[in-house]
Amino acid sequence: MKTRIAVLASGGGSNLGALFDHFDALGDRARGEIALVASNVPSAGALTRAASRGVPTAIISEPAALASMLDRAEVEIVVLAGYLKLVPPAVVRQFHGRMLNVHPALLPAFGGPGMYGLRVHQAVLDSGARVSGATVHFVSEEFDRGAIVAQWPVPVFEEDSPADLARRVLRVEHALLPRVVDALAADAIALDDDGRVRGAFLVGRQGAAFTLPHESTDLGLEIDAAMA
Ligand code: GRF
Repeated sequence: MKTRIAVLASGGGSNLGALFDHFDALGDRARGEIALVASNVPSAGALTRAASRGVPTAIISEPAALASMLDRAEVEIVVLAGYLKLVPPAVVRQFHGRMLNVHPALLPAFGGPGMYGLRVHQAVLDSGARVSGATVHFVSEEFDRGAIVAQWPVPVFEEDSPADLARRVLRVEHALLPRVVDALAADAIALDDDGRVRGAFLVGRQGAAFTLPHESTDLGLEIDAAMA
Protein backbone atom coordinates (compact mmCIF):
# COMPACT_ATOMS: atom_id res chain seq x y z
CA MET A 1 0.00 0.00 0.00
CA LYS A 2 1.68 3.23 -1.09
CA THR A 3 1.54 6.37 1.02
CA ARG A 4 -1.01 8.80 -0.46
CA ILE A 5 0.42 12.23 -1.22
CA ALA A 6 -1.23 15.56 -2.03
CA VAL A 7 0.76 18.16 -3.96
CA LEU A 8 -0.21 21.83 -3.69
CA ALA A 9 1.08 24.12 -6.45
CA SER A 10 0.30 27.58 -7.78
CA GLY A 11 2.41 27.58 -10.93
CA GLY A 12 3.71 25.57 -13.84
CA GLY A 13 4.37 22.49 -11.76
CA SER A 14 7.84 21.45 -12.94
CA ASN A 15 8.51 20.12 -9.43
CA LEU A 16 5.26 18.16 -9.66
CA GLY A 17 6.49 16.83 -12.98
CA ALA A 18 9.76 15.76 -11.33
CA LEU A 19 7.75 13.94 -8.64
CA PHE A 20 5.69 12.10 -11.26
CA ASP A 21 8.85 11.17 -13.21
CA HIS A 22 10.67 9.95 -10.08
CA PHE A 23 7.79 7.74 -8.95
CA ASP A 24 7.53 6.38 -12.51
CA ALA A 25 11.26 5.60 -12.49
CA LEU A 26 10.97 3.89 -9.08
CA GLY A 27 7.98 1.86 -10.29
CA ASP A 28 6.98 -0.70 -7.69
CA ARG A 29 9.77 0.54 -5.42
CA ALA A 30 8.05 3.90 -5.00
CA ARG A 31 6.79 4.23 -1.47
CA GLY A 32 4.40 7.06 -2.30
CA GLU A 33 1.82 7.93 -4.91
CA ILE A 34 0.35 11.32 -5.81
CA ALA A 35 -3.35 11.00 -5.01
CA LEU A 36 -4.36 14.66 -5.38
CA VAL A 37 -3.00 17.84 -6.98
CA ALA A 38 -4.62 21.05 -5.75
CA SER A 39 -4.07 24.68 -6.66
CA ASN A 40 -5.40 28.09 -5.79
CA VAL A 41 -4.94 29.01 -9.48
CA PRO A 42 -7.50 27.33 -11.78
CA SER A 43 -5.22 27.79 -14.81
CA ALA A 44 -2.10 26.44 -13.07
CA GLY A 45 0.06 24.23 -15.27
CA ALA A 46 0.35 21.82 -12.34
CA LEU A 47 -3.36 20.98 -12.69
CA THR A 48 -2.91 20.30 -16.39
CA ARG A 49 0.02 17.98 -15.66
CA ALA A 50 -2.05 16.05 -13.11
CA ALA A 51 -5.12 15.82 -15.34
CA SER A 52 -2.99 14.48 -18.21
CA ARG A 53 -2.02 11.60 -15.91
CA GLY A 54 -5.52 11.01 -14.64
CA VAL A 55 -4.62 12.20 -11.16
CA PRO A 56 -7.53 13.87 -9.27
CA THR A 57 -7.27 17.67 -9.07
CA ALA A 58 -8.98 20.31 -6.97
CA ILE A 59 -9.19 24.10 -6.82
CA ILE A 60 -8.48 25.61 -3.43
CA SER A 61 -11.08 28.37 -3.53
CA GLU A 62 -10.10 29.52 -0.04
CA PRO A 63 -7.53 28.29 2.51
CA ALA A 64 -10.32 27.19 4.85
CA ALA A 65 -11.37 24.58 2.29
CA LEU A 66 -7.99 22.85 2.45
CA ALA A 67 -8.48 20.75 5.58
CA SER A 68 -11.63 18.99 4.38
CA MET A 69 -10.15 18.59 0.89
CA LEU A 70 -7.13 16.74 2.29
CA ASP A 71 -9.29 14.65 4.62
CA ARG A 72 -11.56 13.59 1.75
CA ALA A 73 -8.51 12.60 -0.31
CA GLU A 74 -7.21 10.56 2.66
CA VAL A 75 -3.66 11.77 2.10
CA GLU A 76 -0.87 11.22 4.64
CA ILE A 77 1.73 13.59 3.19
CA VAL A 78 1.35 17.08 1.75
CA VAL A 79 4.00 18.57 -0.56
CA LEU A 80 4.09 22.30 -1.28
CA ALA A 81 5.65 22.61 -4.72
CA GLY A 82 5.47 26.30 -5.49
CA TYR A 83 2.32 26.89 -3.48
CA LEU A 84 2.09 30.61 -2.79
CA LYS A 85 -0.84 30.75 -0.40
CA LEU A 86 -0.91 30.45 3.38
CA VAL A 87 -1.55 26.96 4.74
CA PRO A 88 -3.94 27.35 7.69
CA PRO A 89 -2.11 26.71 10.99
CA ALA A 90 -4.59 23.94 11.85
CA VAL A 91 -3.57 22.08 8.67
CA VAL A 92 0.14 22.64 9.40
CA ARG A 93 -0.40 21.18 12.86
CA GLN A 94 -2.44 18.26 11.48
CA PHE A 95 0.43 17.41 9.10
CA HIS A 96 3.26 18.07 11.56
CA GLY A 97 6.24 16.13 10.26
CA ARG A 98 4.22 15.15 7.18
CA MET A 99 4.26 18.37 5.15
CA LEU A 100 7.26 19.37 3.01
CA ASN A 101 8.14 22.52 1.10
CA VAL A 102 10.80 23.17 -1.51
CA HIS A 103 12.47 26.59 -1.47
CA PRO A 104 14.81 27.88 -4.20
CA ALA A 105 17.55 29.10 -1.86
CA LEU A 106 19.68 27.81 1.01
CA LEU A 107 17.43 28.53 4.01
CA PRO A 108 17.43 30.09 6.52
CA ALA A 109 18.94 32.71 4.20
CA PHE A 110 16.79 34.31 1.51
CA GLY A 111 13.51 32.99 2.84
CA GLY A 112 10.43 34.27 4.59
CA PRO A 113 7.32 36.19 3.57
CA GLY A 114 7.52 37.66 0.07
CA MET A 115 10.63 35.67 -0.81
CA TYR A 116 9.48 33.66 -3.83
CA GLY A 117 10.10 33.48 -7.57
CA LEU A 118 12.82 35.63 -9.15
CA ARG A 119 12.91 37.89 -6.09
CA VAL A 120 14.76 35.14 -4.26
CA HIS A 121 17.44 34.88 -6.93
CA GLN A 122 17.72 38.66 -7.29
CA ALA A 123 18.33 38.89 -3.53
CA VAL A 124 21.03 36.21 -3.75
CA LEU A 125 22.76 38.04 -6.61
CA ASP A 126 22.47 41.39 -4.80
CA SER A 127 24.05 39.86 -1.71
CA GLY A 128 27.16 38.75 -3.55
CA ALA A 129 26.71 35.18 -2.29
CA ARG A 130 28.89 32.68 -4.17
CA VAL A 131 26.55 29.73 -3.71
CA SER A 132 22.83 29.30 -3.71
CA GLY A 133 20.79 26.14 -3.98
CA ALA A 134 17.61 24.30 -3.08
CA THR A 135 16.19 23.49 0.34
CA VAL A 136 13.55 20.92 1.24
CA HIS A 137 12.16 21.43 4.72
CA PHE A 138 9.25 20.45 6.93
CA VAL A 139 6.55 23.10 6.99
CA SER A 140 6.02 24.87 10.29
CA GLU A 141 3.70 27.70 11.18
CA GLU A 142 6.48 30.20 10.50
CA PHE A 143 7.07 30.79 6.76
CA ASP A 144 10.17 28.97 5.44
CA ARG A 145 11.39 28.25 9.00
CA GLY A 146 10.59 24.55 9.40
CA ALA A 147 13.27 21.92 10.05
CA ILE A 148 15.57 21.53 7.05
CA VAL A 149 15.68 18.01 5.60
CA ALA A 150 18.02 18.37 2.64
CA GLN A 151 19.89 21.00 0.66
CA TRP A 152 21.82 21.03 -2.59
CA PRO A 153 24.24 23.88 -3.33
CA VAL A 154 24.83 25.38 -6.77
CA PRO A 155 27.43 27.99 -7.80
CA VAL A 156 26.53 31.62 -8.46
CA PHE A 157 28.42 33.12 -11.41
CA GLU A 158 29.29 36.80 -11.93
CA GLU A 159 27.31 36.99 -15.16
CA ASP A 160 24.21 35.28 -13.77
CA SER A 161 20.84 36.89 -14.29
CA PRO A 162 18.08 35.98 -11.81
CA ALA A 163 16.63 33.71 -14.52
CA ASP A 164 20.01 31.98 -15.02
CA LEU A 165 20.26 31.25 -11.31
CA ALA A 166 16.60 30.18 -11.13
CA ARG A 167 17.20 27.62 -13.88
CA ARG A 168 20.31 26.22 -12.14
CA VAL A 169 18.51 25.95 -8.79
CA LEU A 170 15.35 24.46 -10.32
CA ARG A 171 17.41 21.63 -11.79
CA VAL A 172 18.60 20.50 -8.36
CA GLU A 173 15.15 21.04 -6.87
CA HIS A 174 13.93 18.43 -9.33
CA ALA A 175 16.56 15.99 -8.08
CA LEU A 176 16.13 16.74 -4.40
CA LEU A 177 12.41 17.05 -3.74
CA PRO A 178 11.26 13.69 -5.13
CA ARG A 179 13.90 11.76 -3.19
CA VAL A 180 12.99 13.47 0.06
CA VAL A 181 9.27 12.92 -0.54
CA ASP A 182 9.81 9.22 -1.24
CA ALA A 183 12.00 8.95 1.86
CA LEU A 184 9.24 10.46 4.00
CA ALA A 185 6.70 8.13 2.38
CA ALA A 186 9.01 5.25 3.36
CA ASP A 187 9.27 6.57 6.92
CA ALA A 188 13.03 6.64 6.36
CA ILE A 189 13.10 10.20 7.64
CA ALA A 190 11.04 11.76 10.38
CA LEU A 191 10.72 14.94 12.38
CA ASP A 192 11.48 14.16 16.01
CA ASP A 193 9.61 15.72 18.90
CA ASP A 194 12.66 17.90 19.53
CA GLY A 195 12.25 19.39 16.03
CA ARG A 196 15.24 17.62 14.54
CA VAL A 197 15.19 15.52 11.37
CA ARG A 198 16.03 11.83 11.87
CA GLY A 199 17.33 9.76 8.95
CA ALA A 200 20.41 8.29 7.33
CA PHE A 201 22.66 10.98 5.90
CA LEU A 202 24.07 10.65 2.41
CA VAL A 203 26.43 13.11 0.84
CA GLY A 204 26.48 13.32 -2.92
CA ARG A 205 29.66 13.71 -4.97
CA GLN A 206 28.10 16.95 -6.16
CA GLY A 207 28.09 18.07 -2.54
CA ALA A 208 24.41 17.49 -1.95
CA ALA A 209 23.53 16.68 1.62
CA PHE A 210 20.56 14.36 1.94
CA THR A 211 18.73 12.47 4.60
CA LEU A 212 17.47 9.63 2.47
CA PRO A 213 17.03 5.89 2.60
CA HIS A 214 19.58 3.80 0.76
CA GLU A 215 17.29 2.53 -2.01
CA SER A 216 16.10 5.83 -3.46
CA THR A 217 19.56 7.06 -4.35
CA ASP A 218 20.30 4.86 -7.32
CA LEU A 219 18.44 6.88 -9.92
CA GLY A 220 21.07 8.81 -11.80
CA LEU A 221 22.56 10.45 -8.73
CA GLU A 222 26.21 9.63 -7.97
CA ILE A 223 25.75 9.41 -4.24
CA ASP A 224 28.36 8.34 -1.73
CA ALA A 225 26.50 6.77 1.13
CA ALA A 226 28.07 8.16 4.29
CA MET A 227 26.12 7.41 7.40
CA ALA A 228 26.32 10.44 9.61
C1 GRF B 1 10.18 26.45 -7.41
O1 GRF B 1 11.30 27.24 -7.70
C2 GRF B 1 10.07 26.26 -5.92
O2 GRF B 1 11.32 26.26 -5.28
C3 GRF B 1 9.28 27.45 -5.48
O3 GRF B 1 8.34 27.66 -6.52
C4 GRF B 1 8.87 27.17 -7.74
C5 GRF B 1 7.86 26.24 -8.33
O4 GRF B 1 8.20 25.95 -9.62
N1 GRF B 1 8.65 27.20 -4.21
P1 GRF B 1 7.32 24.84 -10.39
O5 GRF B 1 5.88 25.33 -10.42
O6 GRF B 1 7.46 23.56 -9.65
O7 GRF B 1 7.94 24.78 -11.77
